[in-house]
Amino acid sequence: MSNYIFSNHDTVALAKKYDTPLYVISEDIIEKNATSIQRAFARSGVDYEINYAGKAFLNTAMCKIIHRLGLSLDVVSGGELYTAMQAGFPREKICFHGSNKSIEEIRMAFETKVGKIVADSEYELHLLNDLAGEYEHKPEILVRVSPGIEAHTHEYVQTGRIDSKFGIPLRNMESVMGEAGKYDKLSIVGLHCHIGSQIFDDRPFLIASETMLKLLKQLEEKGYYLEQLNLGGGFGIPYLKDDAVFDIDAYIDDLVTFIRTKSEELSLKFPKLLVEPGRYIIGPAGITLYEIGTVKEVPHTRKYVSVDGGMTDNPRPALYNALYHAVIANKTSFEEEEEELVTISGRCCETDTLISDVVLPRCEAGDILAVLNTGAYNYSMASNYNRIPRPAVVLLKGDQDQLIVERETYDDLLLKDRLPDWYAS
Ligand code: LLP
Repeated sequence: MSNYIFSNHDTVALAKKYDTPLYVISEDIIEKNATSIQRAFARSGVDYEINYAGKAFLNTAMCKIIHRLGLSLDVVSGGELYTAMQAGFPREKICFHGSNKSIEEIRMAFETKVGKIVADSEYELHLLNDLAGEYEHKPEILVRVSPGIEAHTHEYVQTGRIDSKFGIPLRNMESVMGEAGKYDKLSIVGLHCHIGSQIFDDRPFLIASETMLKLLKQLEEKGYYLEQLNLGGGFGIPYLKDDAVFDIDAYIDDLVTFIRTKSEELSLKFPKLLVEPGRYIIGPAGITLYEIGTVKEVPHTRKYVSVDGGMTDNPRPALYNALYHAVIANKTSFEEEEEELVTISGRCCETDTLISDVVLPRCEAGDILAVLNTGAYNYSMASNYNRIPRPAVVLLKGDQDQLIVERETYDDLLLKDRLPDWYAS
């Protein structure tokens, strides 16, 4: 019986070699996904920059991969910035982003001489302007706008009402920006928006870009010549077998044509386009391997198949009702009569269902379960709930496999524990 192969590797052999639960990441798939975006932009002939959104999955090895592929990096915290710097990521290709950045983080961004900073609020614009005077380095500043378009998985809404903690509300932009020169210490070069995540339809992106182009024009009248437009991330990926696929070529073709037409209509120079995809690049490049333990049939209800991980390594089903597909890695060929509908549950002390209904061949203790498309927002959102150590991350490249994050140990869990004096002796 053949085993499940991921990126040319036998996943059962990986589980044996590195133990479970295990995040497995394929550099080849990351490369394929990243180059598909690069190629689509390159074909369109426009000036562009792709900032990988580190929040989806970041560690020093990932920084190296992103750099090797020629992408820039979007970071949203001092921790992500520190990781990038420790990995030797070129500072000029780092965009420091984030909601409610602390003064220390902003200083860190100036001191590390990042290429770009995205200002998320009027308060941040003033803060950046005040602090900028202390530093010689002048990062490019983009201003994040909340454009009043919300895109959900399969639909979008355009609302005049903006209810978002991110960015500056569209209708406040004119007064916040004032006349060019208001933020005299800053080199403001562009605008930013991000309308959501896991989007399959390109219409919301087009509507957002039209809103942003009109705003660029409005600001031009105030003396601002902003030449960069960052449209954020959000390209969807299929999690289940029948899910739609985001057509990156069609999206970029449509977007470029649309922006060309609209810029001409508005007599605007075609801006440099930036995007910030995270999930699209890393999501399909990762799977998680678990070992099955207890298999429990609840009469007339369902069969629970428990694995040795759960909401600690993948909180997305618990947080968002996210759906995943899985296979039994050591049972890839089986007869239909061996199939059963089961619920995959985690090992945490709550109902941490990973997949509520999935058809699998008969599951037994010791089987290896591979949950697919777990590259994005799994490792990066993992926790130590129930004092469960975080899994290791192994990277595949060609026929090589190597650890890029070690499995946490019980001692790691104690690393930051301190006893008060009255219990110390
Ligand atoms: N840019 C900005 C400003 C963002 O807020 C995000 C995601 C991205 C780019 C990247 O979006 P992507 O291409 O990965 O969809 N934890 C949630 C997703 C949160 C996304 C937050 N922002 C999840 O697990 O689905």
